Amino acid sequence: MNTGTNVLFDDWDDAPAPIAPDLSPETAHAPETAAGGRAPVKAADKRIVNGQGDINQLAPFKYPWAWDFFLTANRNHWAPTEINMAQDVQDYRHKLTPAERHMFENVLAYLTTSDILAMRNIGLAVMEKMTAPELQIYQARQVFEEALHTWTYQHCIETLNLEQEEIYNRYRIVPAIHGKIALANRRLEKVLCSGLDLTDRETLHEFALSYLFFAGIFEGCWFYNGFSPIFALQRRGLMKGTAEQFQYIMRDEVLHCAFGIRVIRELMHEENLTLDPEAVADLWREAEAAESVYAGYVLREPILGYSAALHMEQFRFVANRRARQLGLAEPFPGAEAALPWLDEQANLRKEKNFFETRITEYQTGGSLAWE
Ligand SMILES: [Fe+2]
Ligand SMILES: [Fe+2]
Repeated sequence: MNTGTNVLFDDWDDAPAPIAPDLSPETAHAPETAAGGRAPVKAADKRIVNGQGDINQLAPFKYPWAWDFFLTANRNHWAPTEINMAQDVQDYRHKLTPAERHMFENVLAYLTTSDILAMRNIGLAVMEKMTAPELQIYQARQVFEEALHTWTYQHCIETLNLEQEEIYNRYRIVPAIHGKIALANRRLEKVLCSGLDLTDRETLHEFALSYLFFAGIFEGCWFYNGFSPIFALQRRGLMKGTAEQFQYIMRDEVLHCAFGIRVIRELMHEENLTLDPEAVADLWREAEAAESVYAGYVLREPILGYSAALHMEQFRFVANRRARQLGLAEPFPGAEAALPWLDEQANLRKEKNFFETRITEYQTGGSLAWE
């Protein structure tokens, strides 16, 4: 199947043009046949939301790229228990400085809460609104992956013998972490219910903005950039097991973000929806402010090779990329790639030492590369 979808690397700047809806009379919504049976489903019957077609029939595809996402995601299998964490225990206890431990624990505390929120949002707020099965099937896989990410953090927390109650409660107690979660809850909760009338233009606009926040910012910026302080340790040979776990998560998240952006673009095209530029500008402003407070706390003391200032410049750089992918104006013109190695971390073809890891054996797709 050739869908022209290029989502396997995170260096794409523009989403492919949406597929123009086929409005010819012969592909209009199929009526009931005279014999009482149902007329065959046509691809053109399908819509991102508000579709009237049969939600239980996979093909014919209107969104074949969504099926490709599902196949691609299924090539990225791993389990957290397959990654060797022995050296991480030693690093955490004996090698990390107090500033590095502070950063590490708080990044973990933020991520554990975030991924549960992500799982609930994609399953309960987004997937149930979709009216084409090929979209829901990828999102079902995404729900599983978010749960797998939560298992991964829990595995790291257990392996490093961190105090679970303290780590999991940290987002409630530390205002700088709570600020991001509270903002996400506020942005996502409005559509986290069934029975939303998406034929109402205002509600549809609210849904599109909420999904944009989720895919473009929460996953596309906060997650994408959120692992980088840990990768900075990995680059110095520290906490390599945790970092490898996070590379697998990041690989999933790049797909989640790309899929969400593609859905939003198609949705806007199908529904002839234009986003209010002021509302979008508010999203970016809020996201930057919350991220800045978070980075200031997590990196209150810079660590070797990484600082809050670098983190924020990279956030703005990645935010501009997400905006371009969405077909929107850059929110932070002139932002520069402060961490040029971050994209490599996401896209790198990993030449793993066979004796160092079992991942090569575990991969069902036989490949660790993004291809
Ligand atoms: Fe996740
Ligand atoms: Fe995700």
